[in-house]
Amino acid sequence: MSQVITDKNGVKRYLITINVNGDSHSLLVKGNAILTNVLRDDLNLTGTKKGCELGDCGSCTVLLDGKPVDSCMVLAVEADGREITTIEGVAANGQLDDIQQSMLNHAAVQCGYCTPGMVLSAKALLTRNPHPSEREVREAIAGNLCRCTGYVHIVEAVLAASRGEITPVDLKEGDSR
Ligand code: FES
Ligand code: FES
Repeated sequence: MSQVITDKNGVKRYLITINVNGDSHSLLVKGNAILTNVLRDDLNLTGTKKGCELGDCGSCTVLLDGKPVDSCMVLAVEADGREITTIEGVAANGQLDDIQQSMLNHAAVQCGYCTPGMVLSAKALLTRNPHPSEREVREAIAGNLCRCTGYVHIVEAVLAASRGEITPVDLKEGDSR
């Protein structure tokens, strides 16, 4: 249960501790603060995008204890004590995650709004089901809308990653890939 602090104007704030991409953060948040805003505004993790803010588009997808969620539908206080992965936490040690590499290989990296959520939903799928069918891939990314309806390359990329058909490339500092 998070600690409640009331300021002199009677506004309540909640002291939460969240683990984001392996780092622990203690933050004071309002009771109605949504997780998307806390990640973007308080932690400067702007890879999590805001689209509809209605739970429809998936732009704001993060992993909460390993499961993909629309972070615009999660109150920051609900995330207290939990593990969050944002798109900034997917590549590690200068190396893209397999799903990111596969999406590059298949020209499936599209705009910055839909891609972070697609990557996180696909990553969660491959973690729980390393060899999904095409239908399972499509179901896993069903909550991530591409306004351009460009899903074919994304599905191919996820399936290729599931087959281990990737060529890792080391990221170098300043690399814009
Ligand atoms: S911004 Fe959260 S689902 Fe669209
Ligand atoms: S490429 Fe991102 S919404 Fe279509």
